Amino acid sequence: MGLYEALGIASIALASTVNAAVSSTGFTVAVDGIDYFLPPKPVASISGCEEIKASFKESPFIPITVASNGTFDVASYSYDDVWQTGFLEAVYLQGGSAPVNSSYTVLSGSASDALAPGPYFVNAAGQVYEAWRLYSDVQGAFTESVIANGDGSYSVLPAGTVGQKLAIAVPSRLYYMKTADKPLAGVRVGIKDIYDIKGLRTSNGNRAWYWLYAPAKNTAPPVQNLIDAGAVIIGKMITSQFANGETATADWVDYHEAFNPRGDGYQDTSSSSSGGGAGTASYSWLDVSLGSDTGGSIRGPSQVQGLFGNRPSHGLVSLDHTMPLSPVLDTPGLIARDPVTWTEAAKAMYGPNITISDAYPMKIQTLSWPTSASNPANALLIDFLGNVTEYLQANSSAYNVTAEFGADNPTLAPLTTIMNLTYALLITKQQVELVRKPFYADYAAKYDGRRPFVNPVPLARWGWGDNQTLTVADGIANKTLFMSWANTTFLAPSDTTCSDSLVMYVGSTARANPRNIYLDEPGVPFGFSSSRISVMAEVPDFVVPLGEAAYNSTITGHVEYLPVTANLMVAKGCDGMLFNLIEELHAAGILKTAKAGRSGVTGGEILLKRENILSY
Ligand SMILES: *[C@@H]1O[C@H](CO)[C@@H](O)[C@H](O)[C@H]1NC(C)=O
Ligand SMILES: *[C@@H]1O[C@H](CO)[C@@H](O)[C@H](O)[C@H]1NC(C)=O
Ligand SMILES: *[C@@H]1O[C@H](CO)[C@@H](O)[C@H](O)[C@H]1NC(C)=O
Ligand SMILES: *[C@@H]1O[C@H](CO)[C@@H](O)[C@H](O)[C@H]1NC(C)=O
Ligand SMILES: *[C@@H]1O[C@H](CO)[C@@H](O)[C@H](O)[C@H]1NC(C)=O
Ligand SMILES: *[C@@H]1O[C@H](CO)[C@@H](O)[C@H](O)[C@H]1NC(C)=O
Ligand SMILES: *[C@@H]1O[C@H](CO)[C@@H](O)[C@H](O)[C@H]1NC(C)=O
Ligand SMILES: *[C@@H]1O[C@H](CO)[C@@H](O)[C@H](O)[C@H]1NC(C)=O
Ligand SMILES: *[C@@H]1O[C@H](CO)[C@@H](O)[C@H](O)[C@H]1NC(C)=O
Ligand SMILES: *[C@@H]1O[C@H](CO)[C@@H](O)[C@H](O)[C@H]1NC(C)=O
Ligand SMILES: *[C@@H]1O[C@H](CO)[C@@H](O)[C@H](O)[C@H]1NC(C)=O
Repeated sequence: MGLYEALGIASIALASTVNAAVSSTGFTVAVDGIDYFLPPKPVASISGCEEIKASFKESPFIPITVASNGTFDVASYSYDDVWQTGFLEAVYLQGGSAPVNSSYTVLSGSASDALAPGPYFVNAAGQVYEAWRLYSDVQGAFTESVIANGDGSYSVLPAGTVGQKLAIAVPSRLYYMKTADKPLAGVRVGIKDIYDIKGLRTSNGNRAWYWLYAPAKNTAPPVQNLIDAGAVIIGKMITSQFANGETATADWVDYHEAFNPRGDGYQDTSSSSSGGGAGTASYSWLDVSLGSDTGGSIRGPSQVQGLFGNRPSHGLVSLDHTMPLSPVLDTPGLIARDPVTWTEAAKAMYGPNITISDAYPMKIQTLSWPTSASNPANALLIDFLGNVTEYLQANSSAYNVTAEFGADNPTLAPLTTIMNLTYALLITKQQVELVRKPFYADYAAKYDGRRPFVNPVPLARWGWGDNQTLTVADGIANKTLFMSWANTTFLAPSDTTCSDSLVMYVGSTARANPRNIYLDEPGVPFGFSSSRISVMAEVPDFVVPLGEAAYNSTITGHVEYLPVTANLMVAKGCDGMLFNLIEELHAAGILKTAKAGRSGVTGGEILLKRENILSY
């Protein structure tokens, strides 16, 4: 009897060789009250850190600043939200000469590899780690926080911070320099959780789905295009379930809707790109979100949160490894506060499939546009139309889509009849076939014939679809009928200006839609409105923020402000022209960069969040 057995200790562990796979998942530290994440792999080592040797007795990591050209001026670093004065504990001067401030401790060793300027941590062995700042996702916009593994795959960020939500890590903006090759270098992007990212699970807003399927082996092309251009993917973002339209309180059973920061902070975010809209409106540390728009899923969140958001022409980039709602209608688009960053990201994502051009239509056609400045929202809309008309030296006129269609097609049913069921039919029939069918089969096979939980809205829609005898082909026939008419009338192409006209309709008018309201049972999205035009005609439909207007909040009992936005449409394939026009309107001061926070115009802290809490 061995000694261990005599002592009652199992000897199994000693008899066989145990090779536990232990690997570092990075480190978390706080510097002057701000949380940081250090990715597991050092980026360089500095020989002999004699000058700070004593400090390692207090802490395993010392924050340092790398200055790349010898001269170092704090003022040029302070725009970065990751760097802070705590990193001046020591300075490493790449390239020689002295810093402007002679009171800094300068490291005399030399680094094994070239380092981009910015904040770093060094350990006693001289290993140098990047500094990623940890922010709290206080608005619940993310489903998973993400860190690149450096081999094309991603992992869940193993870090936390105050806020009862995920911690999101962002790298210093100082590390990156935009180049022709990497136009999105350092741009921080969030991804709607319907796009696969290699190494991560996808949820599609459904818990059963998240756990049923293995982590993705591929990255969806729209995401890969952004990564290839240098974008830093910082997380997966909240989607309503299977990208259907859901409203808070009643419908979001599996996961909670994200929080809209505007006004009283309790307005619905719209869906389905709920997290992308809410996150972009809330966080200055997030630059762009990738959403998807089948029937309004980018435009809705952009309208109610006062952001730039685009539904592109249909078919600009492959949607492989992306959950379908209706492939004949699905599109990937971007949400941003700044139209310049937005356009850069679009150029990278759509590549040669968009062509930037600067000859613009001289004809503006408006759909149900206000004609009198009877309230502040209408005043903003009227001013905007006037500004654009003047800028383009164009003429504008009102256009009535249903009336014009009727006049051009006297023998057909009214447009509202032709289009009434088309959207509902296409999304339900296609999603039942492409998503529900394999999902139910795979789940039943694994769990002894059981059905997975599905939220009320997708369930009601799928159930309606099951009962329809009309087919996908019937839906496509009506869609094609409308598209052929639209692309020869108000959305016709032009040889000289890409699109014959610029079509505008009202996006949002600061109308309150508080999220604490109990609603009726979920229904099916019948009907036709201006927002369905681009869906059926496959044309670009972009939201631009114009300002904000007051409303009386039922939540705060106070006057608050919500966004006013407009939608711009042009002929199919003219996305590049529209992006460029919006950039020019921005440069001319007609459109403004939206701010993060309570107001898209003045910024400001989200109501429940106080400025004195540093790490938010
Ligand atoms: C380094 O200095 C050169 C020449 O002054 C300048 O062009 C370059 O932008 C500097 N690089 C950095 C990272 O500051
Ligand atoms: C030099 O650095 C020290 C320490 O960070 C700081 O207190 C001081 O204000 C700096 N002086 C100048 C002129 O920037
Ligand atoms: C451009 O569109 C074509 C056809 O849809 C597609 O095959 C190609 O991958 C797209 N290009 C990019 C960069 O996504
Ligand atoms: C705009 O309307 C005016 C007057 O009706 C006309 O003279 C002008 O040619 C029009 N301009 C364009 C670009 O159609
Ligand atoms: C458009 O025309 C239809 C009739 O086809 C009418 O019912 C509707 O009120 C008109 N809309 C506007 C905004 O004038
Ligand atoms: C649209 O279809 C729904 C469901 O069949 C029906 O209740 C509604 O009356 C229809 N509306 C129009 C304008 O045809
Ligand atoms: C197509 O339009 C016809 C009217 O012309 C309508 O009866 C039918 O329901 C529509 N089908 C779909 C799938 O929208
Ligand atoms: C489908 O049709 C059946 C039989 O008419 C009906 O009982 C059921 O409520 C319908 N389901 C939906 C979701 O419309
Ligand atoms: C107009 O729409 C029809 C039907 O979808 C399509 O076949 C055609 O290519 C479109 N033409 C243009 C110029 O977009
Ligand atoms: C808010 O309510 C007050 C009192 O009913 C009213 O006078 C005021 O016009 C309202 N303000 C807005 C922005 O609706
Ligand atoms: C937009 O139009 C309004 C009203 O005419 C005017 O006051 C404002 O200066 C214009 N803005 C720009 C940037 O041209």
